[in-house]
Amino acid sequence: MIEATDLVALISEHLQLRPKGREHVGLCPFHEDSKPSFNVVTHKDRPFYNCFACGKAGSAIDFMMEFHRMSYPEALQSLADRAGIELQGMVEEPGDGTSKRELRAATDAAARLYRRHLADETHGKNARAALEARGINEEMVEQFKIGVAPDAWDGLAGRVVELQKHARLGDTPPIPLQAFIKTALLRKRKEGNGQYDTFRNRLIFPISDEMGRPIAFGGRAIAPGDEPKYLNSPENPLFNKSKTLYAFHLAKKSIIDERHAIVVEGYTDAIACHQAGITNVVATLGTALTRHHAGRLERICDRVTLVFDGDTAGQRAADRAVEIFFGSRIDLAICTLPDGEDPDGLLKMDDGPQRFMDALGNARDVLDHLVSGFKQAYTGSAGISERQNTIESLLDRLAGLGFDTLDAVRRHLVLDRIASLTGIQEKELTSSLARRKRPKPVERRSDEATPAAPADPSVPMDNEESELGALVDDHGLSELEAKPTAPELSRRHREAERRVLAIYLFDPTLARTSIDAGEGTMLPASEVCPATQFLDPGHRILADQILDALDAGQTPDVGQLLLDAPDDRIGSLAAELYRLGQDLLDNTDLEPAELLGNHCNDLQLIAQLERFEIDPSTDEAAPPGVELKRRIEQLIERGPDKASLARVPRPRRPMRIAASKSKRMRDTR
Ligand code: UTP
Ligand code: MN
Repeated sequence: MIEATDLVALISEHLQLRPKGREHVGLCPFHEDSKPSFNVVTHKDRPFYNCFACGKAGSAIDFMMEFHRMSYPEALQSLADRAGIELQGMVEEPGDGTSKRELRAATDAAARLYRRHLADETHGKNARAALEARGINEEMVEQFKIGVAPDAWDGLAGRVVELQKHARLGDTPPIPLQAFIKTALLRKRKEGNGQYDTFRNRLIFPISDEMGRPIAFGGRAIAPGDEPKYLNSPENPLFNKSKTLYAFHLAKKSIIDERHAIVVEGYTDAIACHQAGITNVVATLGTALTRHHAGRLERICDRVTLVFDGDTAGQRAADRAVEIFFGSRIDLAICTLPDGEDPDGLLKMDDGPQRFMDALGNARDVLDHLVSGFKQAYTGSAGISERQNTIESLLDRLAGLGFDTLDAVRRHLVLDRIASLTGIQEKELTSSLARRKRPKPVERRSDEATPAAPADPSVPMDNEESELGALVDDHGLSELEAKPTAPELSRRHREAERRVLAIYLFDPTLARTSIDAGEGTMLPASEVCPATQFLDPGHRILADQILDALDAGQTPDVGQLLLDAPDDRIGSLAAELYRLGQDLLDNTDLEPAELLGNHCNDLQLIAQLERFEIDPSTDEAAPPGVELKRRIEQLIERGPDKASLARVPRPRRPMRIAASKSKRMRDTR
């Protein structure tokens, strides 16, 4: 791979290099560089780069890993893609029209045809007029590789026949027809033989991968009255909506330079932004932002601003985005545009660019968005216990978002922000937090006020006290630098998580079925136990994958999950839970939805119980917590079979408390 890559060419795609003697030099991208200290050496055995000032050095692979924060396999894959090499172990059987190489060739051939058609004097005329009417200029047409689909049923279909004839004459392998069908560029006729064009007389906006290669298309109708207004390629093995961001390849450099990404909802919005000179802009493709998107952005910037037209869908999407970004180190802001305008519309108005920049400047920090309701409730509350309840609801919400799994530095930052946003003293937040003990550490003596840090830093601290202590007391760096501890889960808590997840894994569609969430309230299981319910980090990763896939309209299958697993440990966990799910569903007389309902409610109950575990080392018992805990424990005691939590009768009273609590949270949000 290193041999196949021209290192000077590769690095020139990322920064300016100029020749100097036998080498090339430029400003180092890895530190603030004032004079060119960055060298690219290609005349030795192995090409490499190095920086005299900061000492960063390495091969093409190191450069990709360092610059794009890619993992080793990702860097390797992207260099392979760039050089047009199929990696070992990824070579596919050619010929049946379904290998990625063949799908790519088909998509590419279509993209070329559409572009050529737009450039054509006569055939492209209407489309060029339509682009002009939309205010999209030549430069954007070039950059975004915009084209037009012929106004015919056999524009592309005819071209495919031609291409195959050429291939037979020459010695290039033909692109199988099946590859055009699989990418939905052509469709089979219902009657008779043959196929016809999917995109006809539409402006074509290619959707590209990170390397700028087209993987799908968006088509905007040109003729008035043509329905639908937008026709977009369905997903295919090259194109996964929930992993693709429109214009990412064009925006990446600006995003890296500015450490800031702006995410809009429509691809024409992204184009309008780029044309207005705002180039750190990408668009989602008809899905809300997913964890995949977030993860990709997280690696190249510190700040993300989501731009929504000012409507209610935007509000919902914003709520979801909060969940997705909460645990990441990204500062997320939500920007709602005035008068329900989309960026494209706004930018076309007088002073459009200025108004858009103003709106971006007024984007609301996501924590602000999250806690605004609580602030009102808190300042409006009458007594101490009401205030305490408000704090508890806020902490519940934070816990649901995974606050407990954040590292200590991040937690401190979040609490600090919340304190200043809500006016609730940080002291109050931290003492409420300290009271909400998680699973009780096994052997804790009550006289052990500040437990010593474990001698071996790789051994996780056995409880949260030391971490919190550092936060509350002195923000001492020694503690803050300690590795974030994975939450310590009790055996029964872990087991309850395992069972719910096992069923989600074995039959993902069950996650969408309604279950009895107590008091006869029917809710989809995925709402009773969303991904954030899973505190074990491995469980959380799998839950995210399953539920994100469902959100994106796919049915996750365990094979894909195994392939997507970030490491072997997660992979074997998935396999193990899959078998557990099968076991659970095979060995019950209950309906699957009822079984899942029981397990979901058990998990909730245990989480609830443990959240209210009272810290034995303080006298400050929170009365509602004590009471709730006592009742829940009674219920568990009363169960017909203590060994099996699944058969504990559904807890009516505690669940009602839980329900009213979360209702209050919704009301105050
Ligand atoms: P608009 O509805 O504003 O489309 O959606 P438009 O072409 O600008 O039409 P008019 O002139 O305002 O009526 C703009 C964006 O929404 C996405 C596209 O990404 C487009 O950039 N979109 C809209 C779809 O992808 N599919 C749809 O069905 C609708
Ligand atoms: Mn529009």
